[in-house]
Amino acid sequence: MNLSAGIALLLFACIGNAAWWAIVVNRTHSFQLHASCLKFVRKLHDAGIILFPPFAFWFMGCGQPGLLHGGFVTDLSWGLQYTLFVALCGLVPFAWSVARWQTRRPPKELLEVTSQHFDVLNQHQTDSEKHLVCGDRVPFLARFPLNEIYRLEVTRKRLRLAGRQSPEGESHRTIKVAHFSDTHFLGCPGQRFFEFATDRLCELQPDLFVFTGDLMDDEALFPWASEMFSRLADVAPGYSILGNHDWRLDHSGIRQGMIDAGWIDIGEQQMTARVGDVTMLIAGTETPWIGNNPIVPSPKREDLRILLSHSPDQRNFAVEQQFDLMLCGHNHGGQVVLPAIGPVYAPSRYGVKYAGGTYRHGQMLIHVSRGLGAKEPLRWNACPEITLLEIDIS
Ligand SMILES: [Fe+2]
Repeated sequence: MNLSAGIALLLFACIGNAAWWAIVVNRTHSFQLHASCLKFVRKLHDAGIILFPPFAFWFMGCGQPGLLHGGFVTDLSWGLQYTLFVALCGLVPFAWSVARWQTRRPPKELLEVTSQHFDVLNQHQTDSEKHLVCGDRVPFLARFPLNEIYRLEVTRKRLRLAGRQSPEGESHRTIKVAHFSDTHFLGCPGQRFFEFATDRLCELQPDLFVFTGDLMDDEALFPWASEMFSRLADVAPGYSILGNHDWRLDHSGIRQGMIDAGWIDIGEQQMTARVGDVTMLIAGTETPWIGNNPIVPSPKREDLRILLSHSPDQRNFAVEQQFDLMLCGHNHGGQVVLPAIGPVYAPSRYGVKYAGGTYRHGQMLIHVSRGLGAKEPLRWNACPEITLLEIDIS
């Protein structure tokens, strides 16, 4: 094997190895595992990705006869051949993920999308105002020059419910749902950023607000959440569930705080509500972290069935219960979306398939919000977002 082929083979092995570790991290973070266990997995992931290249180039490439010295794969020891084979196999799910990202298409029920971007940091002029946008606890990651954690995208999406036709002459009804998620209050971004997002949410004038979990990372900042959610509750009814980061805190206290702020807690519950001339069944699930899936009645005369689920992993339950729309968060759009490759990390059993956006599963639509914050405040090509879903019902 010539030198170029040897280098290429070892580089592909490094990419495949990294792909396996990304799969391990994504899948483990979709389960109800303790934070210390997940931290251990992430350290293994870091070590596996950092140590594999020197290991491969030294033992497989530079040994005698190594792949960089004219040797062939069959010249390596059985253990090294096996390691190389397993690493190269990681290219298969990697290529599949990239191909899926490159060929992704929105469902035909997504009729129209318009969006507006705000550079929240630079819309504030003085240093003191910018400091309030950044917050007091700006970690090293947040200082990354291309970080988009202080940007905000306000998106309007017009949807037609999957599987429903629009008969001629029948009057259309539209329900406007403002969906946001994953605030992760931890001090970065600062409170001024969330006040800005609250202003934009109020301007949307929805029929209802929906929040799909991961409210807090630092309970001491609950007054920020209380102020934000109280303001929203004055504009329209709000329905909320909690997420895995809330589960790690005093989630009962957080839940009560949301209720005190005027929001309707829908975790493990279902209810029927009338919004304008639309009757909807709305339910929530916080599994696999808190409680169980709600017991949901069969469809009756409601016009719309909405499930709030922190993770899109509950898609099969939602389809079985004949929901029309599932609203989720959790995956943060992948947080870092690489050019050509797409997102790499999303804490889901489906990997990055549902990183963020609008999808169809069976006859059901899924909307996954990228959220507003993040425990690790680094985002690239996946900036914070709030969305107004204008749902046509006929
Ligand atoms: Fe989250």
